[in-house]
Amino acid sequence: MEITVFLGAPGSGKGTQAKKLCQSGSFVHLSTGDILRNAIKEGTPLGNEAKTFMDKGELVPDKTMIGLIQEVLSHLDSSQHIILDGFPRTVPQAVALNSSDKTKVNRAILFEIPDSVLVERLTGRRVCKGCGHSYHVKHFPPKKDGVCDSCGHETVQRTDDKEEVVKKRLEVFHSQNQGLVDFYSHQKTLKKVDANKTAETVQEDLKRLLK
Ligand code: AP5
Repeated sequence: MEITVFLGAPGSGKGTQAKKLCQSGSFVHLSTGDILRNAIKEGTPLGNEAKTFMDKGELVPDKTMIGLIQEVLSHLDSSQHIILDGFPRTVPQAVALNSSDKTKVNRAILFEIPDSVLVERLTGRRVCKGCGHSYHVKHFPPKKDGVCDSCGHETVQRTDDKEEVVKKRLEVFHSQNQGLVDFYSHQKTLKKVDANKTAETVQEDLKRLLK
């Protein structure tokens, strides 16, 4: 199994880029945020636990997240190239992933972007209630305001995209990120991409890094 992890602040474009890459059919996108949001929607015990942390912009405990990712990865075909978006988020999560040869990370790509851009990106994000497609009120609006182009359901703001929660998420990100950068630098697997460009340019830059 080939594993690429996307590191970067909330709103740096990890999900947008991973979804674009998957359209080529060469990658599988695994987003821990999406897995947790689905669990919340379904009202599972995992969802109920995660909601209390996510609504406050805090991280779900490592023990829960490590168990979850190990379970999900164990069901995937070993010939696939996985893009892990949102995991690891802490050094213990990175260590757990690298502790098995099967889930060792081949490359980590850090999305670099100033915080000043992120608040605008996150507070302007809208997601479809039906299919989960992501929009931005200014940068990528749907054709009809508040209605998903793909499935026609309503688009809404994520509860953790409210400005006060966004600030907390950025604070949490900065408290953890240097540890991850040091970890993957030490492993000689860290690459960086300038994420403060158009989505199309970032995609081209990523494709070059993934070659
Ligand atoms: P998660 O869903 O992973 O949130 P995140 O990391 O905060 O990432 P986002 O989805 O907010 O941002 P993104 O980088 O994917 O940006 P996007 O492409 O959407 O996690 C949510 C929560 O779950 C966490 O807070 C935590 O509680 C929990 N959790 C998840 N994983 C965990 C773990 N491993 N351990 C513990 N807890 C965990 O883009 C954002 C917006 O910008 C969009 O509107 C988009 O249209 C727009 N945009 C994208 N690219 C561009 C561009 N180039 N130019 C202009 N606009 C752009």
